[in-house]
This record gives sequence, structure tokens and C-alpha cells, in this order.
Amino acid sequence: MSRAETFRLKRSEEIAKMHEAGRILGRCLEELAAMVRPGISTDDLDRAADTFIRQAGCIPGFLGYYDYPKSLCVSVNDEVVHGIPGSRVIRDGDLVSLDCGLILDGWWADSGCSVACGPATDEVQRLLDVTYQGLWRGIEAARPGNHIGDIGHAVQTYVEAQGFTVVRNYVGHGIGRNMHEPPQVPNYGQPGTGNLLKAGYVLAIEPMVNAGAPDVHVLDDGWTVVTDDGRLACYFEHTVAVTDEGPRVLTLRPSELAEGRNATVVAGGEPPRTAA
Ligand code: MF3
Ligand code: CO
Repeated sequence: MSRAETFRLKRSEEIAKMHEAGRILGRCLEELAAMVRPGISTDDLDRAADTFIRQAGCIPGFLGYYDYPKSLCVSVNDEVVHGIPGSRVIRDGDLVSLDCGLILDGWWADSGCSVACGPATDEVQRLLDVTYQGLWRGIEAARPGNHIGDIGHAVQTYVEAQGFTVVRNYVGHGIGRNMHEPPQVPNYGQPGTGNLLKAGYVLAIEPMVNAGAPDVHVLDDGWTVVTDDGRLACYFEHTVAVTDEGPRVLTLRPSELAEGRNATVVAGGEPPRTAA
């Protein structure tokens, strides 16, 4: 993914603005996730996302980004990320990953989540739980004094201990007035490496986790990333501000708020084990 050249720390008023954008995106994704049921098409989900974003007074960030044709990415089963909505119909048992971005007064929010359509198989449920938990392990590491590599290390060690793999070809990123800003935020790495984090970093942390091998390729549509081995892939993403009080998740969905995942993650807290 490309990165803009410019990067600077965000002031607290700017983080507050990004938080406003993030709350809208959280509500949008929650609505979309609730719409996932047998018979709905990926285009239906895209239209709902586009309408929600515009009615909230925001701009759909993905639409036209490097000529991306839709306002939402929907990636099903072996699709990892960047699936383009179309006539495909969701069926019972599908693992559906939703990824969306919006702009409010020039500030970006970028987030995504995965859900099972209907009852999940054991493998789908475990992949959902581990990927979601992996995201929170990464979020917990996004605090002053840590390095970028601590985030990836936290995600990778957890995910691999559960028997799954992290995708290497795509990474998280800084975010602000551009969707993609430095630094890159890999979901793998060594502790103490990369940028030293301090208050004012805002990062999109987005673990992509495969049930099988980590290898992926892009389909002929130029966007859809799929696993080489055809096995399942899962993905979650939050936009997170590094503050002196700890990581503050700017894109919490209402259900996550209700679960008590407060804006600032308490140091050392073990996140709940179930996916939202
Ligand atoms: N969450 C994705 C990212 O971090 C979204 C990119 S899709 C695109 O890059 F269509 F906007 F490119
Ligand atoms: Co992103």
C-alpha cells in the first residue's frame, strides 16, 4: 500500500476530530455487519455503506482511491482484503470481511471487521476469535515508549501460537489527513525495532490472518487479495491514537463500547476472548 510522504504527530484537537470520524465509521460497520445474512449481495453492502457515510456528512474514502470503484471492501472466505463488491451473494457459512474508510472535515478513519454468515463452523469461529484477539494484542502495544515492532510482534506471536499465520504482503499504516501515512505497521516483527512511539501517533492496525499458509496473491481484477492455498482468511482493523494515557481506539463499534472496551485500553488488561 502506498504512503504519503508527509507525516507528523497529531495534536489532541486533531485526534478529537479523527475520533468523530471514527465513531461514525464504527456505527457504519456495525450496521453493515448486522446486514450480513444469506442472500444479500456484496453490492447491497456497498450501497448501504455509501449511503450511511454520505448521510452522516462524510466522504466515502475508498471510492476513487487509486481508482478503487466502490466505497467498501467485502472479502469472502479465501479473500483476504480488497474484495470489490458486485453481484456475489453471501451464503450461510461464509466468512465475510468488511473494510471501510471515510473522511470527515479532511480527517480519515479506517476500520474493518469480519463476521460469519449464519452459524460459524469451528474453524471459522476460531479464526474470528484469534484474529480479533490479535488485533487487541496489537492495540495494547501501541503506547508511548514502545516501538512499531512491538505491535507486530504482539500480533504475530499470539496468532502463530494459535496455529494460524499472519500475512506479510500487506501492512497497517499511519493515518491522518491521508489514509496512508508513514510509518508502516506490519503484523509481524521484533520488539524494540522501528519508530519509537509517542503521543500523537495515529495508526491503523490491521491484522490479516490466514488459516493456512501466509502466502497471498492478487486476482486479475487488480484488487482482490486471496490466499494461495485457498484456505480461509480473516481481518480486523481499528484506527488507534497513541496517547500519554495509553492507546485510544478511535473506531470502536457500538457493540464494543457496550462490552466495556473503553476508549483507552487499561495497561496490561486481558481483552475479552470473543469477537464482537
Ligand atoms: N483498509 C485498507 C487499507 O488500509 C483499505 C484500502 S482499500 C482502497 O489500505 F480501496 F481504499 F484502496
Ligand atoms: Co487500513
